[in-house]
Amino acid sequence: MRKIIEFSVGEVSRRAGVPISTIHFYEEKGLIRSLRNKANHRRYTSDVLRKLSIIKVAQKTGIPLKEIKEALNSVPDGEKVNKRHWQRLSRNWQADLDARIDQLTNLRNLLEGCIGCGCLSLTDCWMLNPGDKLGRDGPGPRLLELEE
Ligand code: FES
Repeated sequence: MRKIIEFSVGEVSRRAGVPISTIHFYEEKGLIRSLRNKANHRRYTSDVLRKLSIIKVAQKTGIPLKEIKEALNSVPDGEKVNKRHWQRLSRNWQADLDARIDQLTNLRNLLEGCIGCGCLSLTDCWMLNPGDKLGRDGPGPRLLELEE
């Protein structure tokens, strides 16, 4: 049986590089959970370190906390967590992450060229959006596929 390692909030904060207040915030929002020891102090099992790392990276890519929480909910807490759970998390989240990657790639590729926003500030604009003809189709960057 794998030895259960329990961390204090200070130890988690140091190892994960996340302030204690943020750990409490994520707990309040239901993204992570702690146990209470006999002295009623919060104790975290080691899986919380991986969850915090996933939260940090996901947030950096602009993924809302609500979506991160839904994804993390497929992983149980404490000693039961194993590779199969992390694989399930990855599978469940794959489609959303791929869609986000496509959007970001699309944005990166199009930022150099005309996005059909009506500014007509680039040479491309005169080829792709002469006289802002795309503006007749509606508001916003007509050449960028934005999810509503
Ligand atoms: S980038 Fe604005 S209209 Fe082309």
